[in-house]
Amino acid sequence: MNAAAINDPDSFGGGAAAGARVLAPGIDVSHKTILYLEDISVSFDGFKALNKLSLDIDNGELRCIIGPNGAGKTTMMDVITGKTRPDSGSVFFGQTIDLAKLTEAEIAHAGIGRKFQKPTVFEQHSVFENLELAMKTDKRVRASLTARLDSAQHDRIADTLRLIHLAGVAGRDAGLLSHGQKQWLEIGMLLMQEPRVLLLDEPVAGMTDEETERTGELCRTLAGKHSVVVVEHDMDFVAGIANKVTVLHEGSVLAEGSMGEVQNDARVIEVYLGR
Ligand SMILES: Nc1ncnc2c1ncn2[C@@H]1O[C@H](COP(=O)(O)OP(=O)(O)OP(=O)(O)O)[C@@H](O)[C@H]1O
Ligand SMILES: [Mg+2]
Repeated sequence: MNAAAINDPDSFGGGAAAGARVLAPGIDVSHKTILYLEDISVSFDGFKALNKLSLDIDNGELRCIIGPNGAGKTTMMDVITGKTRPDSGSVFFGQTIDLAKLTEAEIAHAGIGRKFQKPTVFEQHSVFENLELAMKTDKRVRASLTARLDSAQHDRIADTLRLIHLAGVAGRDAGLLSHGQKQWLEIGMLLMQEPRVLLLDEPVAGMTDEETERTGELCRTLAGKHSVVVVEHDMDFVAGIANKVTVLHEGSVLAEGSMGEVQNDARVIEVYLGR
C-alpha cells in the first residue's frame, strides 16, 4: 500500500465522539438479539442455497461467518437485506421488525447496512465529498445536496474520516485511492447512515497485509456501537478478530463457537479448513 497516503497518526479508534450517539431508535433488542434468522430456505432452480438456516446475532457483537464456496454466505446477506426473498422461514430485526414485510430500501433505512465486495465510491469526488454525499442521501438528514454542512455534520464526517483512517487524504479524489482505502471509504459511507447492523462480505479480499490488519482493527472498533457480521475466507484475518465464528455449509450452520473450537471441529476440517 502507499504508506504516504495514510499519514494520519490516529488509529482506527478515533471515533469516540461518534460513539456517544444513539443509533436508529425503535429496534427492540431487549432480548439482546438484533437479528434472528429462523429456518430460512432459498432455492435456485431446485438447488437449495439455504437449507433451514437458523442464526441469531447479538446486539453489538462481531460475528464472523466462514465456510466453503457456495455455502450460502452471500445468499444469507441477500436475504437479510431483502435482495432475495426466502421460500420459507423468517428474518427479524430486533424483536418486532419482520424484514419480510420491508423493501430493500426500507431495510437499509431501518438500519441494516451492507458492503458488497466491489467498492462503489464516487471516483470523481473527494473522500470528504463521498462521506458528505452518503450523509445527505440519508433521508433522515434533512438537507439538500447543495446546503452547507452545519458544524455537527462537519464533525461527524471528521470523526468518520479518522475512524476509517482516511483523514490524511480527505481532499483526494476517491478514484486515486488504493483498493483497500476504497473499501474503507465505502465502510465510512455506510457509517454515515448510522446503521445498527453492518454486513461485510469479504472485506479484506485483495488487500495488502497492512490494510488487512487495519481493517481488523476497524471491525473491532465498530463492534459494540454496531453489530458487525463479517464473511471472510482469510482465516488469519478471522482468527485475529473473531469472538464467535459460525461455519456455514450447504446452506445451514455446520458449527458455531470460538475460532479455536471451530478449527478443531472434525466436520469443519473436513469440509473447509482441511482442504
Ligand atoms: N441468483 C442466483 N441464481 C442461481 N444460483 C445462485 C444465485 N445466487 C447464488 N446461487 C447459488 O447458491 C449457492 C450459494 O451461493 P453463495 O453466493 O451464497 O455462496 P457463498 O457462501 O457466498 O460462496 P463464496 O464463498 O464463493 O462467496 C451457490 O451454489 C450459488 O451458485
Ligand atoms: Mg459469497
